[in-house]
Amino acid sequence: MSDRRIVLTRPDDWHLHLRDGAMLASVLPDTARQFARAIVMPNLQPPVTTVEHARGYRARINAALPAGVRFDPLMTLYLTDSTSPVEIERVKASGFVHALKYYPAGATTNSENGVTELKRISAVLTAMEKHDVPLLIHGEVTDPAVDVFDREAVFIERHLSPLVDAFPGLRIVLEHITTRAGAQFVAEAPDNVAATITAHHLLLNRNALFAGGLRPHHFCLPVLKRETHRQALLQAATSGRPKFFLGTDSAPHRRHAKESDCGCAGIYTAHAAIELYAEAFEQANALDRLEGFASFHGADFYRLPRNADRIELERRVWTVPERIGIEDGDSDDAIVPFRANQPVLWQLVEQPALNR
Ligand code: NCD
Ligand code: ZN
Ligand code: ZN
Repeated sequence: MSDRRIVLTRPDDWHLHLRDGAMLASVLPDTARQFARAIVMPNLQPPVTTVEHARGYRARINAALPAGVRFDPLMTLYLTDSTSPVEIERVKASGFVHALKYYPAGATTNSENGVTELKRISAVLTAMEKHDVPLLIHGEVTDPAVDVFDREAVFIERHLSPLVDAFPGLRIVLEHITTRAGAQFVAEAPDNVAATITAHHLLLNRNALFAGGLRPHHFCLPVLKRETHRQALLQAATSGRPKFFLGTDSAPHRRHAKESDCGCAGIYTAHAAIELYAEAFEQANALDRLEGFASFHGADFYRLPRNADRIELERRVWTVPERIGIEDGDSDDAIVPFRANQPVLWQLVEQPALNR
Protein backbone atom coordinates (compact mmCIF):
# COMPACT_ATOMS: atom_id res chain seq x y z
CA MET A 1 0.00 0.00 0.00
CA SER A 2 1.59 3.29 -1.07
CA ASP A 3 1.04 6.55 0.78
CA ARG A 4 -0.84 8.10 -2.07
CA ARG A 5 -3.24 5.32 -2.99
CA ILE A 6 -5.35 2.80 -1.14
CA VAL A 7 -7.18 -0.10 -2.70
CA LEU A 8 -10.10 -1.49 -0.71
CA THR A 9 -12.66 -4.19 -1.16
CA ARG A 10 -15.77 -2.23 -2.16
CA PRO A 11 -17.38 -0.99 1.07
CA ASP A 12 -21.03 -0.99 2.19
CA ASP A 13 -22.94 1.64 4.15
CA TRP A 14 -24.73 0.03 7.10
CA HIS A 15 -26.87 3.11 7.96
CA LEU A 16 -28.23 5.40 5.26
CA HIS A 17 -31.18 7.72 4.63
CA LEU A 18 -32.20 7.80 0.98
CA ARG A 19 -35.62 9.50 1.34
CA ASP A 20 -37.99 9.22 -1.63
CA GLY A 21 -39.05 10.92 -4.86
CA ALA A 22 -36.84 13.71 -6.22
CA MET A 23 -34.58 13.65 -3.16
CA LEU A 24 -33.97 9.91 -3.60
CA ALA A 25 -33.08 10.36 -7.26
CA SER A 26 -30.68 13.18 -6.38
CA VAL A 27 -28.76 11.48 -3.56
CA LEU A 28 -28.68 7.84 -4.64
CA PRO A 29 -25.86 8.21 -7.23
CA ASP A 30 -23.53 9.55 -4.52
CA THR A 31 -23.91 6.37 -2.48
CA ALA A 32 -24.04 3.95 -5.40
CA ARG A 33 -20.74 5.12 -6.88
CA GLN A 34 -18.80 3.99 -3.83
CA PHE A 35 -20.87 1.44 -1.92
CA ALA A 36 -22.14 -1.92 -3.16
CA ARG A 37 -24.98 -2.06 -0.63
CA ALA A 38 -26.59 0.04 2.06
CA ILE A 39 -28.93 -0.55 4.94
CA VAL A 40 -31.74 1.82 4.03
CA MET A 41 -33.46 3.57 6.92
CA PRO A 42 -37.27 3.35 6.98
CA ASN A 43 -38.11 6.79 8.44
CA LEU A 44 -40.07 8.05 5.46
CA GLN A 45 -43.33 9.88 5.97
CA PRO A 46 -45.31 7.70 6.46
CA PRO A 47 -42.72 5.19 7.71
CA VAL A 48 -41.95 1.88 6.03
CA THR A 49 -43.67 -0.49 8.47
CA THR A 50 -44.42 -3.62 6.43
CA VAL A 51 -42.63 -5.92 4.01
CA GLU A 52 -45.07 -4.82 1.33
CA HIS A 53 -44.13 -1.17 1.91
CA ALA A 54 -40.46 -2.10 1.77
CA ARG A 55 -40.98 -3.98 -1.50
CA GLY A 56 -42.42 -0.84 -3.11
CA TYR A 57 -39.71 1.42 -1.67
CA ARG A 58 -37.00 -0.95 -2.87
CA ALA A 59 -38.48 -0.91 -6.38
CA ARG A 60 -38.43 2.92 -6.35
CA ILE A 61 -34.78 2.90 -5.25
CA ASN A 62 -33.85 0.45 -8.00
CA ALA A 63 -35.74 2.53 -10.56
CA ALA A 64 -33.79 5.63 -9.47
CA LEU A 65 -30.38 4.00 -10.01
CA PRO A 66 -28.29 5.46 -12.82
CA ALA A 67 -28.04 3.12 -15.82
CA GLY A 68 -25.31 0.52 -15.54
CA VAL A 69 -24.72 0.98 -11.79
CA ARG A 70 -25.09 -2.04 -9.57
CA PHE A 71 -26.25 -1.31 -6.04
CA ASP A 72 -28.26 -3.44 -3.63
CA PRO A 73 -30.57 -1.61 -1.22
CA LEU A 74 -30.92 -3.65 1.97
CA MET A 75 -34.32 -2.78 3.35
CA THR A 76 -35.45 -2.27 6.95
CA LEU A 77 -38.81 -1.83 8.67
CA TYR A 78 -39.75 0.84 11.17
CA LEU A 79 -40.96 -0.60 14.46
CA THR A 80 -44.11 0.89 15.95
CA ASP A 81 -46.17 -0.01 19.01
CA SER A 82 -48.42 -2.01 16.70
CA THR A 83 -45.87 -4.00 14.69
CA SER A 84 -47.08 -7.60 14.72
CA PRO A 85 -44.91 -10.67 15.35
CA VAL A 86 -46.37 -12.10 12.13
CA GLU A 87 -44.57 -9.33 10.22
CA ILE A 88 -41.27 -10.77 11.46
CA GLU A 89 -42.07 -14.05 9.73
CA ARG A 90 -42.72 -12.09 6.54
CA VAL A 91 -39.40 -10.31 6.99
CA LYS A 92 -37.61 -13.61 7.35
CA ALA A 93 -39.34 -15.01 4.26
CA SER A 94 -38.76 -11.85 2.16
CA GLY A 95 -35.04 -12.23 1.56
CA PHE A 96 -34.70 -8.44 1.08
CA VAL A 97 -35.66 -6.96 4.46
CA HIS A 98 -32.61 -7.31 6.69
CA ALA A 99 -33.50 -5.63 9.98
CA LEU A 100 -36.02 -3.66 12.02
CA LYS A 101 -35.33 -0.17 13.26
CA TYR A 102 -36.28 1.03 16.68
CA TYR A 103 -36.75 4.78 17.11
CA PRO A 104 -37.86 5.89 20.56
CA ALA A 105 -40.94 8.01 19.75
CA GLY A 106 -39.83 11.62 19.36
CA ALA A 107 -36.07 10.97 19.48
CA THR A 108 -35.09 12.21 16.02
CA THR A 109 -36.21 13.18 12.49
CA ASN A 110 -39.47 11.40 11.52
CA SER A 111 -39.70 9.37 14.72
CA GLU A 112 -43.22 10.44 15.71
CA ASN A 113 -44.51 6.93 15.01
CA GLY A 114 -41.71 5.24 16.91
CA VAL A 115 -42.03 2.95 19.91
CA THR A 116 -43.37 4.58 23.07
CA GLU A 117 -42.16 1.90 25.48
CA LEU A 118 -39.93 -1.08 24.84
CA LYS A 119 -42.17 -3.40 26.79
CA ARG A 120 -44.93 -2.87 24.21
CA ILE A 121 -42.87 -4.62 21.56
CA SER A 122 -41.59 -7.55 23.61
CA ALA A 123 -43.54 -10.11 21.56
CA VAL A 124 -41.97 -8.68 18.39
CA LEU A 125 -38.50 -8.79 19.92
CA THR A 126 -39.07 -12.41 20.89
CA ALA A 127 -40.01 -13.17 17.28
CA MET A 128 -36.92 -11.32 16.02
CA GLU A 129 -34.70 -13.26 18.37
CA LYS A 130 -36.29 -16.52 17.23
CA HIS A 131 -35.98 -15.71 13.52
CA ASP A 132 -32.56 -14.10 13.94
CA VAL A 133 -33.56 -10.71 12.53
CA PRO A 134 -31.29 -7.85 13.68
CA LEU A 135 -32.62 -4.94 15.72
CA LEU A 136 -31.18 -1.51 14.87
CA ILE A 137 -31.45 1.13 17.56
CA HIS A 138 -31.43 4.90 17.67
CA GLY A 139 -30.15 4.91 21.22
CA GLU A 140 -31.26 8.09 22.92
CA VAL A 141 -33.79 8.65 25.67
CA THR A 142 -36.45 11.24 24.98
CA ASP A 143 -36.95 12.24 28.62
CA PRO A 144 -36.80 16.06 28.53
CA ALA A 145 -35.26 16.03 32.02
CA VAL A 146 -32.12 14.38 30.61
CA ASP A 147 -29.47 16.70 29.21
CA VAL A 148 -29.28 16.35 25.43
CA PHE A 149 -25.57 15.44 25.60
CA ASP A 150 -26.31 12.60 28.05
CA ARG A 151 -29.18 10.96 26.19
CA GLU A 152 -27.12 8.17 24.65
CA ALA A 153 -25.43 7.18 27.91
CA VAL A 154 -28.74 7.24 29.79
CA PHE A 155 -30.40 5.16 27.07
CA ILE A 156 -27.71 2.51 27.43
CA GLU A 157 -28.13 2.35 31.16
CA ARG A 158 -31.92 2.47 31.31
CA HIS A 159 -32.90 0.56 28.19
CA LEU A 160 -30.13 -1.06 26.19
CA SER A 161 -28.35 -2.90 28.95
CA PRO A 162 -31.57 -4.57 30.21
CA LEU A 163 -32.57 -5.33 26.61
CA VAL A 164 -29.28 -7.11 25.87
CA ASP A 165 -29.75 -9.19 29.03
CA ALA A 166 -33.40 -10.00 28.28
CA PHE A 167 -32.77 -11.10 24.66
CA PRO A 168 -29.37 -12.78 24.66
CA GLY A 169 -29.88 -14.26 21.20
CA LEU A 170 -30.98 -11.03 19.51
CA ARG A 171 -28.48 -9.35 17.16
CA ILE A 172 -28.44 -5.64 17.99
CA VAL A 173 -26.76 -2.69 16.28
CA LEU A 174 -26.47 0.45 18.34
CA GLU A 175 -26.54 2.95 15.49
CA HIS A 176 -24.33 5.99 15.12
CA ILE A 177 -22.61 5.83 18.51
CA THR A 178 -21.32 9.19 19.69
CA THR A 179 -19.88 8.65 23.17
CA ARG A 180 -17.21 6.85 25.11
CA ALA A 181 -20.06 5.14 26.99
CA GLY A 182 -21.48 3.85 23.70
CA ALA A 183 -18.14 2.56 22.46
CA GLN A 184 -17.35 0.95 25.80
CA PHE A 185 -20.74 -0.68 26.19
CA VAL A 186 -20.56 -2.26 22.76
CA ALA A 187 -16.92 -3.31 23.20
CA GLU A 188 -17.78 -5.14 26.41
CA ALA A 189 -21.09 -6.64 25.26
CA PRO A 190 -21.34 -10.13 23.77
CA ASP A 191 -20.68 -10.67 20.05
CA ASN A 192 -24.33 -10.24 19.08
CA VAL A 193 -24.06 -6.51 19.89
CA ALA A 194 -22.37 -4.18 17.39
CA ALA A 195 -22.30 -0.49 16.47
CA THR A 196 -22.08 1.76 13.44
CA ILE A 197 -19.99 4.92 13.51
CA THR A 198 -20.45 7.93 11.21
CA ALA A 199 -17.67 9.85 9.47
CA HIS A 200 -18.83 13.15 10.95
CA HIS A 201 -18.66 11.86 14.52
CA LEU A 202 -15.10 10.69 13.80
CA LEU A 203 -14.09 14.06 12.37
CA LEU A 204 -15.90 16.65 14.48
CA ASN A 205 -16.51 17.44 18.09
CA ARG A 206 -19.26 19.68 19.42
CA ASN A 207 -17.22 22.83 18.91
CA ALA A 208 -18.14 22.46 15.24
CA LEU A 209 -21.72 23.38 16.15
CA PHE A 210 -20.62 26.81 17.25
CA ALA A 211 -17.55 27.59 15.14
CA GLY A 212 -17.81 31.35 14.60
CA GLY A 213 -21.62 31.19 14.98
CA LEU A 214 -24.45 28.67 14.98
CA ARG A 215 -23.80 25.93 12.39
CA PRO A 216 -27.02 24.14 11.45
CA HIS A 217 -25.26 21.90 8.92
CA HIS A 218 -23.34 20.31 11.76
CA PHE A 219 -26.50 19.49 13.67
CA CYS A 220 -27.48 15.84 13.74
CA LEU A 221 -28.79 13.39 16.29
CA PRO A 222 -27.28 12.11 18.41
CA VAL A 223 -25.66 15.54 18.59
CA LEU A 224 -21.85 15.91 18.31
CA LYS A 225 -20.06 15.40 21.61
CA ARG A 226 -16.87 16.69 23.23
CA GLU A 227 -13.39 15.79 22.02
CA THR A 228 -12.82 12.96 24.51
CA HIS A 229 -15.79 11.15 22.98
CA ARG A 230 -14.56 11.69 19.44
CA GLN A 231 -11.24 10.17 20.49
CA ALA A 232 -13.04 7.15 21.94
CA LEU A 233 -14.96 6.68 18.68
CA LEU A 234 -11.77 6.93 16.62
CA GLN A 235 -10.20 4.33 18.83
CA ALA A 236 -13.18 1.98 18.48
CA ALA A 237 -13.40 2.43 14.69
CA THR A 238 -9.68 1.79 14.21
CA SER A 239 -9.46 -1.01 16.79
CA GLY A 240 -9.90 -3.72 14.18
CA ARG A 241 -12.71 -5.23 16.25
CA PRO A 242 -15.50 -6.68 14.11
CA LYS A 243 -18.17 -5.07 16.32
CA PHE A 244 -17.56 -1.65 14.83
CA PHE A 245 -18.44 -0.87 11.25
CA LEU A 246 -19.22 1.89 8.81
CA GLY A 247 -22.63 3.56 8.80
CA THR A 248 -22.67 7.08 7.39
CA ASP A 249 -26.11 8.14 8.66
CA SER A 250 -26.01 10.43 5.64
CA ALA A 251 -29.30 12.28 6.11
CA PRO A 252 -30.20 14.82 3.42
CA HIS A 253 -32.47 17.75 4.15
CA ARG A 254 -33.35 20.75 2.05
CA ARG A 255 -31.30 23.80 2.91
CA HIS A 256 -34.20 25.78 4.32
CA ALA A 257 -35.28 22.94 6.55
CA LYS A 258 -31.88 23.18 8.25
CA GLU A 259 -31.29 26.93 8.12
CA SER A 260 -34.41 27.64 10.08
CA ASP A 261 -35.76 28.79 13.41
CA CYS A 262 -36.17 25.09 14.22
CA GLY A 263 -33.62 23.41 11.98
CA CYS A 264 -33.88 19.67 11.56
CA ALA A 265 -31.26 17.10 12.46
CA GLY A 266 -29.20 15.34 9.81
CA ILE A 267 -25.87 15.75 8.02
CA TYR A 268 -25.37 14.84 4.37
CA THR A 269 -22.07 12.98 3.82
CA ALA A 270 -22.84 10.54 1.00
CA HIS A 271 -21.05 12.69 -1.61
CA ALA A 272 -17.68 12.06 0.09
CA ALA A 273 -18.33 9.23 2.51
CA ILE A 274 -15.46 6.82 2.04
CA GLU A 275 -13.06 9.73 1.52
CA LEU A 276 -14.09 11.27 4.85
CA TYR A 277 -13.57 7.96 6.64
CA ALA A 278 -10.12 7.73 5.01
CA GLU A 279 -9.31 11.16 6.47
CA ALA A 280 -10.36 10.04 9.93
CA PHE A 281 -8.39 6.79 9.73
CA GLU A 282 -5.35 8.62 8.41
CA GLN A 283 -5.60 11.00 11.36
CA ALA A 284 -5.44 7.99 13.67
CA ASN A 285 -2.57 6.50 11.68
CA ALA A 286 -4.73 3.49 10.96
CA LEU A 287 -5.41 3.44 7.22
CA ASP A 288 -4.59 -0.27 7.28
CA ARG A 289 -7.70 -0.82 9.44
CA LEU A 290 -10.08 1.00 7.07
CA GLU A 291 -10.92 -2.01 4.94
CA GLY A 292 -12.07 -4.15 7.87
CA PHE A 293 -14.27 -1.35 9.19
CA ALA A 294 -15.66 -0.30 5.81
CA SER A 295 -15.84 -3.53 3.85
CA PHE A 296 -15.79 -6.63 6.09
CA HIS A 297 -17.21 -6.19 9.59
CA GLY A 298 -20.70 -5.09 8.60
CA ALA A 299 -21.13 -7.80 5.98
CA ASP A 300 -19.99 -10.42 8.48
CA PHE A 301 -22.36 -9.15 11.18
CA TYR A 302 -25.32 -9.15 8.77
CA ARG A 303 -24.21 -12.57 7.49
CA LEU A 304 -23.94 -11.40 3.92
CA PRO A 305 -21.07 -12.17 1.57
CA ARG A 306 -18.20 -9.69 1.43
CA ASN A 307 -18.00 -7.78 -1.84
CA ALA A 308 -15.71 -9.16 -4.51
CA ASP A 309 -14.70 -6.01 -6.38
CA ARG A 310 -12.52 -3.10 -5.25
CA ILE A 311 -12.35 0.65 -5.12
CA GLU A 312 -9.33 2.88 -5.16
CA LEU A 313 -8.72 6.10 -3.23
CA GLU A 314 -6.09 8.65 -4.02
CA ARG A 315 -4.53 11.23 -1.66
CA ARG A 316 -5.62 14.23 -3.71
CA VAL A 317 -7.27 17.37 -2.39
CA TRP A 318 -10.57 18.36 -3.97
CA THR A 319 -13.28 20.85 -3.05
CA VAL A 320 -16.81 19.83 -2.14
CA PRO A 321 -19.48 21.70 -4.14
CA GLU A 322 -21.58 24.33 -2.42
CA ARG A 323 -24.86 22.48 -3.06
CA ILE A 324 -26.15 19.13 -4.18
CA GLY A 325 -29.07 19.89 -6.48
CA ILE A 326 -32.44 18.24 -5.94
CA GLU A 327 -33.97 17.21 -9.22
CA ASP A 328 -37.28 19.01 -9.04
CA GLY A 329 -36.17 21.65 -6.59
CA ASP A 330 -35.14 25.19 -6.52
CA SER A 331 -31.35 25.40 -6.41
CA ASP A 332 -31.48 27.83 -3.50
CA ASP A 333 -33.16 25.12 -1.42
CA ALA A 334 -30.80 22.30 -2.44
CA ILE A 335 -28.77 20.14 -0.03
CA VAL A 336 -25.77 21.73 1.67
CA PRO A 337 -23.28 18.86 1.80
CA PHE A 338 -20.79 18.26 4.59
CA ARG A 339 -17.62 20.35 3.95
CA ALA A 340 -19.43 22.51 1.37
CA ASN A 341 -16.81 24.65 -0.42
CA GLN A 342 -14.11 23.05 1.73
CA PRO A 343 -11.36 20.58 0.89
CA VAL A 344 -11.48 16.80 1.31
CA LEU A 345 -8.09 15.09 1.36
CA TRP A 346 -8.84 11.79 -0.35
CA GLN A 347 -10.66 11.15 -3.58
CA LEU A 348 -12.32 8.07 -4.99
CA VAL A 349 -10.79 7.11 -8.32
CA GLU A 350 -13.75 6.94 -10.68
CA GLN A 351 -14.32 3.65 -12.40
CA PRO A 352 -16.40 3.17 -15.52
CA ALA A 353 -19.81 2.03 -14.24
CA LEU A 354 -19.91 -0.96 -16.54
CA ASN A 355 -16.80 -2.47 -14.99
CA ARG A 356 -18.69 -3.27 -11.79
C1 NCD B 1 -31.75 11.35 10.70
C2 NCD B 1 -32.70 11.83 9.61
O1 NCD B 1 -32.61 13.00 9.19
O2 NCD B 1 -33.52 11.03 9.14
N1 NCD B 1 -31.17 12.51 11.35
C3 NCD B 1 -30.04 12.53 12.09
O3 NCD B 1 -29.73 13.60 12.63
N2 NCD B 1 -29.27 11.49 12.24
C4 NCD B 1 -32.45 10.47 11.67
C5 NCD B 1 -31.54 9.65 12.56
O4 NCD B 1 -30.71 8.85 12.07
O5 NCD B 1 -31.60 9.76 13.77
ZN1 ZN C 1 -30.82 7.91 14.39
ZN1 ZN D 1 -29.97 7.77 10.73
